[in-house]
Amino acid sequence: MFCFPLILSISSPETAAYVSYLSRLLLHERLPHHLRVLDLCTGTGCIPLLFHHELHATRPELDTTPEFVGVDISATAINLANENRATYALSARPAVGTITFLDADVLATESSLPAAISPDLTTALDTHHSSGTYGRPNYDILISNPPYISPRAFRRTTARSVQHFEPALALVPPASQQDQATRIANTNPLEPETTDPGDTFYPHLLSHAATLNTQIALLEVADMSQALRVAAMAVRQGIWERVEIWRDEPARSSLGREVLGGREIVVRGEGDGRSVFLVRGRGCGWVGGL
Ligand SMILES: C[S@@+](CC[C@H](N)C(=O)[O-])C[C@H]1O[C@@H](n2cnc3c(N)ncnc32)[C@H](O)[C@@H]1O
Repeated sequence: MFCFPLILSISSPETAAYVSYLSRLLLHERLPHHLRVLDLCTGTGCIPLLFHHELHATRPELDTTPEFVGVDISATAINLANENRATYALSARPAVGTITFLDADVLATESSLPAAISPDLTTALDTHHSSGTYGRPNYDILISNPPYISPRAFRRTTARSVQHFEPALALVPPASQQDQATRIANTNPLEPETTDPGDTFYPHLLSHAATLNTQIALLEVADMSQALRVAAMAVRQGIWERVEIWRDEPARSSLGREVLGGREIVVRGEGDGRSVFLVRGRGCGWVGGL
């Protein structure tokens, strides 16, 4: 795998594996010329930087000018992401498209302002695009590795080294948002779900994907049980033509099946459940080899 000197990386090899796998699945010649990629909870920006590299440095002949936007609530993370981008730009040939990092709270809504310190996502994207002719565009691909560890799992199973050196903000969803996430998740009253406190971000991420007309979404999860819950949320959302679970090594040829909400979904690769892959509309034509 390509390596550039990141100042701080909390991405795991499994994160890199699904980003690389997505990039290899994409039929580059069919992608929109102005492909727009949004990475929510971007941290130090590892995902957009790696994805940009995988898409472009390996295919310099591509005639695209992609726009990558990474979003995080932490000013420290945004600063590190900007430093990583500067380091990456020095090594990227050719330097195509743009990579921008924005401060926003993915869980906030316009109504939760002004209490929130960071703007909500819609406001942040609107401000970012306000100088453009057409205002806020759609985002074709949405990726996210959000905080997904429940407070209980954090106390009981997270390694001491991680507990002491990673900020809890990066790993554990805020308790104050968990009830609201449950309400968003239970949009279908016929199918009430019990939600895990670690799942807080996923209803928000799915809702953003719908609002931004996202065609492909890839959401990291902790394990297979969370993968099944998030895939079930996506099935209930009713907008995705493909719902898949990718394991740690999605490129391995093993294929499994699960039935969720009466729908059969594919489980791809080897290892524990690591991400949920969603495709709809035009995105179905951008993905090959599945
Ligand atoms: C698990 S880390 C992922 C970082 C990076 N995407 C990666 O793969 O290494 C989660 C990130 O979410 C950010 N975060 C936490 N709460 C957030 C919120 N409400 N809105 C936006 N970002 C948030 C944290 O600051 C942290 O950088």
